[in-house]
Amino acid sequence: MADQHAQSGEDKRPTEIPVIRWEEPPEGPVLVLLDQTRLPAEEVELVCTDAPMLVEAIRSLAVRGAPLLGIAGAYGVALAAVRGFDVDDAADALAAARPTAVNLAVGVRRAQAAHRAELARSGDTDKAAEAALAAARKLHRDDAEASARMAERGMALLDELLPGGGHRVLTHCNTGSLVSGGEGTAFAVALAAHRVGRLRRLWVDETRPLLQGARLTAYEAARSGMAYTLLTDNAAGSLFAAGEVDAVLIGADRIAADGAVANKVGSYPLAVLARYHHVPFIVVAPVTTVDPDTPDGASIEVEQRAGFEVTEVTAPQVPVTGPGGGIPVAPLGTQAYNPAFDVTPPELVTAIVTEEGVVSPVTAEALAEVCARSREV
Ligand code: MRU
Repeated sequence: MADQHAQSGEDKRPTEIPVIRWEEPPEGPVLVLLDQTRLPAEEVELVCTDAPMLVEAIRSLAVRGAPLLGIAGAYGVALAAVRGFDVDDAADALAAARPTAVNLAVGVRRAQAAHRAELARSGDTDKAAEAALAAARKLHRDDAEASARMAERGMALLDELLPGGGHRVLTHCNTGSLVSGGEGTAFAVALAAHRVGRLRRLWVDETRPLLQGARLTAYEAARSGMAYTLLTDNAAGSLFAAGEVDAVLIGADRIAADGAVANKVGSYPLAVLARYHHVPFIVVAPVTTVDPDTPDGASIEVEQRAGFEVTEVTAPQVPVTGPGGGIPVAPLGTQAYNPAFDVTPPELVTAIVTEEGVVSPVTAEALAEVCARSREV
């Protein structure tokens, strides 16, 4: 079955994709982002000169994915500080730009705290801005390191659960270099397996309505030379039924204290399918995605997005004709239900892989214990 669905050709570009960088041209510091709304058609950069521009980039998903949102948010606070804007106002606007991925607020508040502490200590605004930038840079480096450790732990877990090797892994949304300071979360695990010849196939859910799987994960898989196949989200059931999925690997936007996982809408149905078909459902996320202040799945705020993302095809390469900027695929005025995320209860999650350790079975106690390790050093 695999060969008949294989992608054609192999992308020879480097697997590393520059997604975010701080630059200091003579006109003043800027945050440069790879505009993810334009991928895979074009690799276009977006230059943010202030926090409101970054807020807009976050809302439009030019920059997206939980870990990268945290990094971007922290740099956004530094940008406001070095350019002399009100740092607390900028921090509040950035933290509220999208509600579900807790990493965004974590990154923003870390940079803000560093700024505040330095201002209280020295009273020097330049030094305070430097402190905010140093906090952002540290978060960026830490995320790269966390990503490498998650990949290692995740691969060991795959080998333990699937001793035969030749893994056929299904993934949803996008979780690679495009969302991370390193090689990502779930995708980094698949990439590690690919590098040692143990990934037989990466099944890529297209991820309606904004096609993060088709546009972004397929782009990353092609650049990495992986054997990957794209499927519509609703084809996953028949793929499981055909016995073609050995494991599901996904990321997370927020993990509640009880282990409930909010991730891109469509993740929960995969967890139900995985349970029915006795396939491991593995979540890969850094400890910054675990929110001890959110007790359970019902307490996670799920972002609701504009209906036109469903009633129109809004991929960047289609000509603009509808009021939302895409091609209408439903009668004008059609109401749409468009949650950006769904929540998978902990009992459907086989394991949560973090950089600090693997939580399995998923219980509140085990999760808290693993997260506490990151505070021990
Ligand atoms: O709406 P998006 O594209 O920001 O959603 C991203 C996801 O749901 C990812 O799966 C999640 O952030 C995990 S990325 C490591």
